[in-house]
Amino acid sequence: MINVALPKGRLGEKVYAMFEAAGYECPSIKENNRKLIFENPEAGVRYFWVKPSDVSIYVERGAADVGVAGKDILLEYEPDVYELLDLNLGKCRMAVAAKKDFRDRGDRTLKVATKFPNIAGRYYASIGRDIDIIKLNGSIEIAPILGLSDVIVDIVETGTTLKENDLEVKATVIPISARFIVNKSSFRFKTAEIERMTEKMKEQVKFND
Ligand code: PRP
Repeated sequence: MINVALPKGRLGEKVYAMFEAAGYECPSIKENNRKLIFENPEAGVRYFWVKPSDVSIYVERGAADVGVAGKDILLEYEPDVYELLDLNLGKCRMAVAAKKDFRDRGDRTLKVATKFPNIAGRYYASIGRDIDIIKLNGSIEIAPILGLSDVIVDIVETGTTLKENDLEVKATVIPISARFIVNKSSFRFKTAEIERMTEKMKEQVKFND
């Protein structure tokens, strides 16, 4: 049995559809209830719905053998897992955004609000800019509007949230997409099953354009 941590939400539904098409169906998962664990012994698979930012914790600690996590989470927390596939789903980018009229003159420490302090810290270190990080947990776009920060480092998907709050992208930090990740010891002990699953998932990736 392979234990799979799925990210709850819209991305998770697309991810499950990929597993289903890859031969790991589990019909009970489509029943609309509040259950979080579903299994199909015939297909050799058990699914858990977890918060997207927690998938890598379940996989790193072996509570799940495999899972699907955003590259943003992998870059921020650097979990000790194998990243085997880019699923070409959940595509967006990590970007620096600010009020339209903001210009960084570089004459003082830049105040950066973000949910991703490690990604933001590494990005500004790479361009040699001194920053003061303000760690927030959501609704990051409010920070520059209220003067809490000069800029934000956040996920931009359609750009609607920025637009509706009169902010704009100033720089792209890195493109993001969903990745298939594997626990290191599961990979050692369930090599054949996990390699088979990886190959089957790889065949589905091309349909995600
Ligand atoms: C994410 C991100 C942006 C928004 C970007 O927020 O932090 O706010 O989505 O998407 P868009 O470019 O398509 O508008 P999320 O919905 O995860 O909420 P939170 O960060 O406020 O928790």
